[in-house]
Amino acid sequence: MEKNIDESKQGDHLVLEQKDGNSRKLFIESYGCAMNFSDSEIVASILSNEGFNTTQNLEDADLVLVNTCSIRDKAEQTIRKRLQKYNAVKRINPGMKVGVLGCMAERLKNKFLEEEKIVDLVVGPDAYKDLPNLIAEVEDGRNAVNVILSKDETYGDIAPVRLNSNGVTAFVSITRGCDNMCTFCVVPFTRGRERSRDPQSIIEEVNDLGSRGFKEITLLGQNVDSYLWYGGGLKKDFEKASDLQKATAVSFSKLLDLCAEAQPKMRIRFSTSNPQDMSMDVIKTMAKHNNICNYIHLPVQSGSNRILKAMNRQHTREEYFEMIDNIKRILPDCTVSHDLITGFPTETEEDHKDTLSLMEYVKYSFGYMFTYSERPGTMAERKLEDDIPEAIKKRRLQEIVDLQQVHSLYRTKKFIGKVVEVLVEKESKKSSEHWSGRNEHNSVVVFPKEQYKVGDFVNVITSECTSATLIGEAIGYSENN
Ligand code: SAH
Ligand code: F3S
Repeated sequence: MEKNIDESKQGDHLVLEQKDGNSRKLFIESYGCAMNFSDSEIVASILSNEGFNTTQNLEDADLVLVNTCSIRDKAEQTIRKRLQKYNAVKRINPGMKVGVLGCMAERLKNKFLEEEKIVDLVVGPDAYKDLPNLIAEVEDGRNAVNVILSKDETYGDIAPVRLNSNGVTAFVSITRGCDNMCTFCVVPFTRGRERSRDPQSIIEEVNDLGSRGFKEITLLGQNVDSYLWYGGGLKKDFEKASDLQKATAVSFSKLLDLCAEAQPKMRIRFSTSNPQDMSMDVIKTMAKHNNICNYIHLPVQSGSNRILKAMNRQHTREEYFEMIDNIKRILPDCTVSHDLITGFPTETEEDHKDTLSLMEYVKYSFGYMFTYSERPGTMAERKLEDDIPEAIKKRRLQEIVDLQQVHSLYRTKKFIGKVVEVLVEKESKKSSEHWSGRNEHNSVVVFPKEQYKVGDFVNVITSECTSATLIGEAIGYSENN
């Protein structure tokens, strides 16, 4: 952990961690999932030891790094447009170097250098520790590429520099990669095989955040329920572990237990859960600790058994319902959100109706909904024709978005007239006189500021809502404060 980091620059509750004596300027931005945002904090930490402080100003940067996403074609197009913007800036700042990190770097490798002349540096998600060497090469006038995926890299030994932090909420990464091989998904190819991070380093990071005043953490992984520590190495090699390693292995529910106990006043969240790996132990551990938020993001992708099978999701719709029933039985007020894809190859109207009826059963609080985007190299791309016309994909998407809107409103309305505990995160976007925060169920709550401040736990009585936001008034600090 760096000691000489200056955290005093707290303009607008944006905590910028800067190291005295660093003269080079790094502009780093992230696209895509929370894991990318978390990885950028690791990269900023590695580079802070190489003389780089972060800047919010692209025009000033000596080095520009963009952490990229490949999940859908549109995500990649967004990055390509961003590279054009860097190109324009380079005309006024010719010494600026540009690097691409993350999933697109891993997917395109050397091809990136050919396709985008602005790019000097291409670094995959497991190669960030090599950045100092790679940057030295770039400064010597050569392009540099490292996209080697690792069996054991978890960056567990690196204390992230918190970027754009509100000083209240933080991500803590616990696993990397994914072994699930959903047929539509590029992540197993860009982020490699699944491995878990040493629980001790996780707890140390959580405690450090606690001592620095952070109030909420989100444990991050592509598939958190699959977390398994047995001394390091790939999840798929667990079978080869010794008896002692097996006997002392730490599962996700155990890790949750350890985190909740280490910081009993801190809110603990986690993402993403996968229905096929989520165990009853996890639900029971949530019930055991008040500080683990009663909220589960449980992507389902489709409500049709035939499509779930074609997606290589390892559960049926009936098994999913069983999981939802168990959650509701053990955690009656737990909220659940989802991810759904419309227009997966061969999806019929019947399959689509199954998705709508699954949504009716669960009545999710909210969700992230997408049209299918064919990704190069995935099993679906190799074996199935992307045969659903764009107009049909879009129409089906609209139908599930509309239904979700109804359910979101139904769920949010249930909080009206109730007292909810809100962790204040920032000023409301719509009014400088209101705070914005979330309750444990992940609903956004807005209320007049009064004497409260960012980082306070406040009891708010709610009076109105939209489908996504509760509006109310503070009635005092909560006992958690
Ligand atoms: N690990 C998570 C998901 C990671 S990707 C899980 O367990 O499901 C985030 C979401 O993007 C996925 O849940 C899926 O809904 C969506 N997604 C992934 N690949 C996609 C593709 N090829 N087209 C459209 N949406 C996709
Ligand atoms: Fe992707 Fe499925 Fe893993 S959606 S990240 S392959 S769980």
